[in-house]
Amino acid sequence: MHQVEAESISAFLYFNPSYLHFSRKTAKLDLIVLWEIEMKQLTRERPRPITDWDGVYRQGTPAWDSGIPHAELIRVMEEKRFPKGGTVLELGCGSGADAICMAKRRYEVTAVECSPIALERARLRAEREDALLRLVLDDVFEFALTAGQFDLVYDCGFYHWMRLTKLEPYLDMLWHLTRPGSWFFCLAGALDERAEGGPPQVTEDDIRFELGRLFEFVHLRHARLESPLSKHGFKAWSCLMRRPTIKK
Ligand SMILES: C[S@@+](CC[C@H](N)C(=O)[O-])C[C@H]1O[C@@H](n2cnc3c(N)ncnc32)[C@H](O)[C@@H]1O
Repeated sequence: MHQVEAESISAFLYFNPSYLHFSRKTAKLDLIVLWEIEMKQLTRERPRPITDWDGVYRQGTPAWDSGIPHAELIRVMEEKRFPKGGTVLELGCGSGADAICMAKRRYEVTAVECSPIALERARLRAEREDALLRLVLDDVFEFALTAGQFDLVYDCGFYHWMRLTKLEPYLDMLWHLTRPGSWFFCLAGALDERAEGGPPQVTEDDIRFELGRLFEFVHLRHARLESPLSKHGFKAWSCLMRRPTIKK
């Protein structure tokens, strides 16, 4: 057991270059802090991955589907530096509230979803709201193979599930769907002790290490994810990133 812990610490140090700056004087103290962080991560309960997404929708309204666009998405769209217009791809759009909200703001939206029930709900919503967008029933990993590149890829609640079992394919997919200068906006669950029934939780280190491999951070800040399960929603990360442009 002790050996496993020691290996975990060295692996953590090895993969987190930001922790390599500590001086000899403070090394002992830093190692204890790192050990505590690592142990917290090891003991943090990992949610069981969902295999039957359509089944979740068949049972009714899922915990992530508040039926309205996410407030943080609306907030970020109104900010100066967020791209105004262009092509957008939403990964796993669910019942479509966010994709439709973006389409109504003149983004050229493609929204991909693997659950036929969720996509039918999105289609009915788009019809009701008179929104024009492209809704695609597909596995987004397959779709990405021939989809080309988008100005912006949007992910709400997809990364925090996919990273549990498919982190490498997920990053690979993002690479294929973007070009230098493309934007990536992601909303993901954050550490939250009172998040019973809430989304999978991702730490700041997870995000910096995983998504930071492909993109530069424009902002990484706390937000809330609305949910029919909780009046105030769940703690989340709002992560706006951009693929570096090639300097000549
Ligand atoms: C946590 S939900 C988030 C849905 C939506 N973005 C929202 O915020 O309401 C993740 C969504 O991804 C979809 N999904 C899961 N795996 C997928 C895949 N391989 N291809 C396309 N969609 C997928 C699920 O059906 C589900 O609707």
